[in-house]
Amino acid sequence: MKLIRLLSIDSTNSEAQRRLPELSSGTVLAAREQTAGRGQRGNSWFSEPGANLTFSIVLKFAQGELPARNAHWLNYLISNVVVAFLQDCGVDSQVKWPNDIYVGRRKICGILIENTLRGDSLEASVIGVGININQQAFPQLASATSVRLCTGRKMDLDACLEALLALFEQALPQLKEEPSALLEAYTARLFQKGEQASYHDCLKEEQITGVIEGVAPDGRLQIRDSAGMLRLYQFKEVSYIL
Ligand code: BTN
Repeated sequence: MKLIRLLSIDSTNSEAQRRLPELSSGTVLAAREQTAGRGQRGNSWFSEPGANLTFSIVLKFAQGELPARNAHWLNYLISNVVVAFLQDCGVDSQVKWPNDIYVGRRKICGILIENTLRGDSLEASVIGVGININQQAFPQLASATSVRLCTGRKMDLDACLEALLALFEQALPQLKEEPSALLEAYTARLFQKGEQASYHDCLKEEQITGVIEGVAPDGRLQIRDSAGMLRLYQFKEVSYIL
């Protein structure tokens, strides 16, 4: 993988999008500081300069290599890699579907994947990852945590990025060769799986109590509600009540 280090940039995802035509697959843009970090659902991503990992991985695909209907495999891939990286740091984490990484009830990592399509398959993907490593206070988000808060240890950011990218490179062939292993590892770490919890069904505009059973092959979250009915949700169709 080719690493491009940036001191300060609005957002590594935005920079990767701007430079997409010239960047080769496997290029990583990592920034010490983001001035306009972007999150899911149009949210901002705040990260103390020099304290955390904020980077974007560019992947490019041959025609038909990754059908758009399987784009969620990228969620599994990057989520599994982050969970494995955190495990190596001594932090036990879980994936809150589709791709937030949590330690207990606190968010430690956010992922923003932006895909470019060519017909009905992916042409390129920008996988943006923000992992809280050494930050110790989160004024913008009380329910956040970091590796340092979890372990009490200050980490070397360069070594962290290198370790994570090595795990990513190792896992990447699973996209083509072993997608079922990706899903298996992902569901094994699914936040609130098998636990009774409350959710907001955004389709029916109602609060439900249910148990996450897993993820369907098409990437939808499966929740068995208290009436015994299996409900399937796409991204933004359900929210967690925490
Ligand atoms: C979220 O949880 O809402 C997703 C957050 C994604 C943040 C990362 S930091 C690196 C990359 N650049 C961005 O602007 N966003 C992603």
